[in-house]
Amino acid sequence: MLKIKKKKSTSAGLEGGVLVKENPKSPISEQYRTIRTNIEYSMVDKQLKTFICTSANPSEGKTMTLTNLAVTFAQQGKRILFVDADLRKPMSHHLFQVNNLFGLTSVITKKKTLEEAIVSTGIGNLFVLPSGPVPPNPSELLGSRTMEELILAMTDSFDLVLFDTPPVCVVTDAQLLGRLCDGALLVVRSNQTEKGALVKAKVLLEQVHINIIGVILNDKSGEESSYYHYYA
Ligand SMILES: Nc1ncnc2c1ncn2[C@@H]1O[C@H](COP(=O)(O)OP(=O)(O)O)[C@@H](O)[C@H]1O
Ligand SMILES: [Mg+2]
Repeated sequence: MLKIKKKKSTSAGLEGGVLVKENPKSPISEQYRTIRTNIEYSMVDKQLKTFICTSANPSEGKTMTLTNLAVTFAQQGKRILFVDADLRKPMSHHLFQVNNLFGLTSVITKKKTLEEAIVSTGIGNLFVLPSGPVPPNPSELLGSRTMEELILAMTDSFDLVLFDTPPVCVVTDAQLLGRLCDGALLVVRSNQTEKGALVKAKVLLEQVHINIIGVILNDKSGEESSYYHYYA
């Protein structure tokens, strides 16, 4: 079991947009709990502990969705690790207000240990591994043998490991990392993600035998007042 440093500031929390933390009783938080339940159904007969979160293209809500989901799972008492594997556009250090001097890339290149690089977020049960310095060869690092070993080590210490990744139609990182994980969550943004792009994303994931656990429809406004829906 890894011994993780406590975050120094206890007043910390999340930078904007993490609704489930700020407003756990809102309909949106309720939708996230529904997504959590649906994911749990997928886990009933299988040992699913590691997921990537991706989408077809940039800015469709991958990071926002995964952050809210991570908090929702942590609120249930599960020990959660959020790993910032979007080495193209890392955001977790901003969101969780942690240092990004070292992180995932430092661990893969053996400059730091997992124990040294994972930090607590100030939210109970939720830990983050920020990206670390952005390397020139993200795909190579994410698809490496060392990465595979690290994922195993992460699952020893956490109930669930959630990887934020770049868009699958743009770079190969999500495919490379997804192959090493138990499944993928695919985010679709209402009025933004084009049908062709979504189909391409699905094909790209399935081509490398990644199990798509579910599709999360983000930013859907509607009469029913909820704007997060999940369908499997
Ligand atoms: N449902 C939503 N409602 C309002 N803003 C959103 C929503 N989803 C995403 N955003 C905003 O859109 C931008 C892109 O979201 P982000 O999660 O960073 O996308 P990605 O990780 O896919 O690039 C961010 O500024 C985020 O706050
Ligand atoms: Mg992102």
